[in-house]
Amino acid sequence: MKALLFTSQALVLLSLNVHAAPIAMEDQSQLQSPAVDNTHIEYFQPPAQSELPDNAYGKMVMEGYALFVDTKRKAPQYVGNGLNCSNCHLDQGRLANSAPLWGAYPMYPAYRKKNDKVNTFAERLQGCFQFSMNGGKPPAADSREITALSVYSYWLASKAPIGVQLPGRGYPDVAQPAKGYDFAQGQQVYKEQCSVCHGDNGQGQKVGQDYVMPPLWGKDSYNWGAGMHRINTAASFIKYNMPLGKGGILSDQQAWDVAAFINKHERPQDPRLVEGSIEKTRVKFHANDGVNVYGEQVDGVLMGQGIR
Ligand code: HEC
Ligand code: HEC
Repeated sequence: MKALLFTSQALVLLSLNVHAAPIAMEDQSQLQSPAVDNTHIEYFQPPAQSELPDNAYGKMVMEGYALFVDTKRKAPQYVGNGLNCSNCHLDQGRLANSAPLWGAYPMYPAYRKKNDKVNTFAERLQGCFQFSMNGGKPPAADSREITALSVYSYWLASKAPIGVQLPGRGYPDVAQPAKGYDFAQGQQVYKEQCSVCHGDNGQGQKVGQDYVMPPLWGKDSYNWGAGMHRINTAASFIKYNMPLGKGGILSDQQAWDVAAFINKHERPQDPRLVEGSIEKTRVKFHANDGVNVYGEQVDGVLMGQGIR
């Protein structure tokens, strides 16, 4: 039976290959986490810092932790914007429904549509450097940075089962509302619920050189290739995690509207830009990558021109 199944799958693959050329890539969001009712779930508990052994391993965990929460300052050569990893993976990468590291580590190696291959955990980290941190060439797989971040993640996942999708992994899906989304409504939500911290122009807030409130668009935010540029992904993050400390107060509609509003603003170019062409890049990487406006006209303006 198994052999039979395999054969028919292989046939399907074969026939797909024959027609491969015109088939657009599917949604590249890797995580399909069902929506959750937060209140009745017992989430995995990562260890407390006080449990760390006082040895080389414990020191490496702390080094990874420091990199995760203070990325811009600790690894400036790999960060091309004003963000830290923990800006999108809240509570030091510990918070359920905020793509916690303990939910991620046990799920790799894994196939990712984004680059159409099996990714090691190191490669997954490199991806967030390249896109979310707009970092240019990411640290090498055997670098001190990737090692420390991997050790930190491994430690947070202590006693978690391998290859099992734990509740709270990723950002739970928030289905697109029947009425779609509305930029103007999103702007209103933004004014009322977000601008007090993220600024009137999404620019965040700085104390000296450092952001204390991260920017949501512009040159210091995530680039057009980052997962957060998808309206669906941003809506999921926002619904469960924003306004900070009050996750869950927005309706699905409000989360989508404000996610759309944020993601119709310019940000650094997609580093995968194909032959300098926004249109070619749209077709290759964005046409079927969830819901996004890269390469489209919004209010008469072409999105995806990039910003330095
Ligand atoms: C009380 C202040 C506060 C409010 C209000 C707030 N945020 Fe945030 N937001 C933060 C902070 C701080 C972070 C980074 C979290 C961290 O580092 O722990 C963040 C992170 C983010 C991020 C990911 C990081 C980035 O720069 O892209 C997004 C997106 C975001 N917020 C969107 C929103 C939206 C949309 C609203 C309104 C619905 C909102 N926030 C309201 C403080 C706030
Ligand atoms: C602008 C927001 C943002 C920042 C900053 C960010 N990430 Fe992410 N990260 C995401 C999003 C969005 C996803 C999920 C993408 C998806 O749905 O496929 C993700 C996914 C991941 C995953 C995989 C999660 C899983 O369960 O498979 C890891 C690991 C990760 N990030 C680590 C990092 C590290 C390390 C940094 C800093 C170098 C970082 N991230 C910075 C937004 C961000």
